[in-house]
Amino acid sequence: MMITGKFPSLRLRRSRKNDWSRRLVQENNLTPNDFILPIFLIDGKNKKQSIKTMPDVYRYTLDRLSSVVDKAIKKGLPMIALFPYTEKKKKNTLGTEALNEDNLVCKAIQLIKKRYKNEIGIMCDVALDPYTSHGHDGLLKSGYVLNDETNKILINQSLLQAQMGCDVLAPSDMMDGRIGEIRKSLDKNGFKMTQILSYAVKYASNFYGPFRDAVGSKKTLQGNKKNYQMDFRNSNEALREVALDIKEGADMVMVKPGLPYLDIIKLVKQNFKVPVMAYQVSGEYSLLSNGIKKKIVNNEVIIESLIAFKRAGANAIISYYADRLDQILR
Ligand code: PBG
Repeated sequence: MMITGKFPSLRLRRSRKNDWSRRLVQENNLTPNDFILPIFLIDGKNKKQSIKTMPDVYRYTLDRLSSVVDKAIKKGLPMIALFPYTEKKKKNTLGTEALNEDNLVCKAIQLIKKRYKNEIGIMCDVALDPYTSHGHDGLLKSGYVLNDETNKILINQSLLQAQMGCDVLAPSDMMDGRIGEIRKSLDKNGFKMTQILSYAVKYASNFYGPFRDAVGSKKTLQGNKKNYQMDFRNSNEALREVALDIKEGADMVMVKPGLPYLDIIKLVKQNFKVPVMAYQVSGEYSLLSNGIKKKIVNNEVIIESLIAFKRAGANAIISYYADRLDQILR
């Protein structure tokens, strides 16, 4: 790129002098349309349960869900993402609770669809980790997560969630080939319009700790997820993952975690020109929130970090701040 002009005729500080002028040349901005709100669900009645490692984030029972969804709609958010905390007694090695049509997520989808129709989109993870006793996203055999066998279950989990009314299925499991197989079975079963947001680039990250706490898989997780989630040293591999998932029928792709992976967001956007979602994950959220609480930094770091996603090329951001941004922006 050519840089035109030179000092002293060129002074870049001229446009920075006044607030109106700074606003005039702004290149990126945040609107409610840029956000997806994750919601944690829990069994029981009339509970709003705090999560130790995630300040100001709660788990809600279904009878309190509509207050959260009301707020999300009022704030103009296009979509929410549902995540269940599953009681230990409902977990087993096969994660069969994932296929129970009375599980928390299924009940929540039905409830929201009945009450709100298409006022807001519903996104659901496709993966077994909230339901398995070992905390892995798929079936485990001698410490290895089986691919093709897991896909068979993920297809059924996808179909079930689509039947319940889920708008956007978000496979977060990182099995090979699952997008194509899920798309095929959705189409075959009359769900041609159900979207797929593939967690195409999901790293085996240390930033997921608080989330695992929130869904109750932290203590139970055996080992790590490195034999299916990506090595954080790699970026070429991210492009291969995205290419495959788009070919297999993904409508949108996700890069996860967020802030430490802005280079990947940009690479994906520049190479594929598809809708790219970024996940500001639980560890990022907790670090920022605790830093603010301890007065190490002020709360403008939230906006600064969210704008960074937009600068990198993200279309939208999954963020635990999504329903509180106007308070923070003020
Ligand atoms: C489950 C899943 C995870 C997250 C979203 N879906 C955790 C994991 O893979 O262990 C993490 C989200 C967050 O940290 O906020 N497959």
